[in-house]
Amino acid sequence: MSSTFFLAILCLGVGSGALAFDPSLDAEWHDWKTEYEKSYTMEEEGHRRAVWEENMKMIKLHNRENSLGKNGFIMEMNEFGDLTAEEFRKMMVNIPIRSHRKGKIIRKRDVGNVLPKFVDWRKKGYVTRVQNQKFCNSCWAFAVTGAIEGQMFNKTGQLTPLSVQNLVDCTKSQGNEGCQWGDPHIAYEYVLNNGGLEAEATYPYKGKEGVCRYNPKHSKAEITGFVSLPESEDILMEAVATIGPISVAVDASFNSFGFYKKGLYDEPNCSNNTVNHSVLVVGYGFEGNETDGNSYWLIKNSWGRKWGLRGYMKIPKDQNNFCAIASYAHYPTV
Ligand SMILES: *[C@@H]1O[C@H](CO)[C@@H](O)[C@H](O)[C@H]1NC(C)=O
Ligand SMILES: *[C@@H]1O[C@H](CO)[C@@H](O)[C@H](O)[C@H]1NC(C)=O
Ligand SMILES: *[C@@H]1O[C@H](CO)[C@@H](O)[C@H](O)[C@H]1NC(C)=O
Ligand SMILES: *[C@@H]1O[C@H](CO)[C@@H](O)[C@H](O)[C@H]1NC(C)=O
Ligand SMILES: *[C@@H]1O[C@H](CO)[C@@H](O)[C@H](O)[C@H]1NC(C)=O
Repeated sequence: MSSTFFLAILCLGVGSGALAFDPSLDAEWHDWKTEYEKSYTMEEEGHRRAVWEENMKMIKLHNRENSLGKNGFIMEMNEFGDLTAEEFRKMMVNIPIRSHRKGKIIRKRDVGNVLPKFVDWRKKGYVTRVQNQKFCNSCWAFAVTGAIEGQMFNKTGQLTPLSVQNLVDCTKSQGNEGCQWGDPHIAYEYVLNNGGLEAEATYPYKGKEGVCRYNPKHSKAEITGFVSLPESEDILMEAVATIGPISVAVDASFNSFGFYKKGLYDEPNCSNNTVNHSVLVVGYGFEGNETDGNSYWLIKNSWGRKWGLRGYMKIPKDQNNFCAIASYAHYPTV
């Protein structure tokens, strides 16, 4: 064995603080690596295992507390298992929005205009299947295509998955940064000014940046404008009830968000005024008795179907703009 090898191991031991792994987790670690197709260099493996064990402990503790009624949601180990909280933030949530540009304000709900208690646009055929953005910060593009898909379905009666990659590759000159960062507002502007957007079928998702190759012949969707909603859960509710899926942004900076499995995501530190991850609101409702106060927004994420409720999450509704859900909401007109 070379001396560099020894040195690497030594540094690792110092860096990670512990190389004494819990042997009872060996099989689980192995299965997890297989499931998520992880492979590491020898140097990396020890550190990743240590991080994974820490996450495992955190998840188990959280779920034990859940069974004692101390929190409202269950967590689960998933593809983010080998990331520290800091790495998770850097990789997965990275869209601090520059400023909220307000568009046309929609009418506040009329008194007596009763909105439905439950809305789920999936049941009406407005929502395409959940995809996985992989390690590319393209959430903003998924939220925007999701909102346009819904409105196009309303107009044409056809549900066509639209091209996220088209937005990732083609909105750079407008100020977006591909897999690094993007603002949904800029993406809507692009679709509007470009006069079209391709479908996933002709311009499939790659999870990395490429050269813009939009072809107007393949355009599958056009928008006539888009609306920025004022920061209000009441107005968001009216929009979700009467228009369709709405693109929003939330504070997803806690790794409890990454490991979410089910329940109402009541992370106590979730911000109500800063956002860094875009998602699509596809409905709302409540759990248990209406008077219990367990109402939620149903959001579609872009982290695959293994994450959360088959790719979806419930975020507390009517709780002082929890996770800043109503802070950056938009929908397109078609
Ligand atoms: C979340 O977004 C806000 C600004 O929108 C930013 O100040 C905060 O640092 C972000 N958190 C992360 C982890 O990106
Ligand atoms: C489209 O929206 C209008 C108005 O909201 C509604 O009346 C109509 O049923 C919708 N069409 C479809 C296909 O959902
Ligand atoms: C959440 O906030 C509490 C106190 O407000 C703090 O002690 C704790 O470290 C925070 N947790 C995270 C993950 O930021
Ligand atoms: C819901 O709560 C109300 C008041 O607390 C109660 O009268 C009602 O029976 C409850 N309904 C159900 C289905 O539990
Ligand atoms: C954020 O929460 C605080 C206290 O929980 C509340 O006073 C404030 O109005 C909330 N902000 C928004 C935009 O709802």
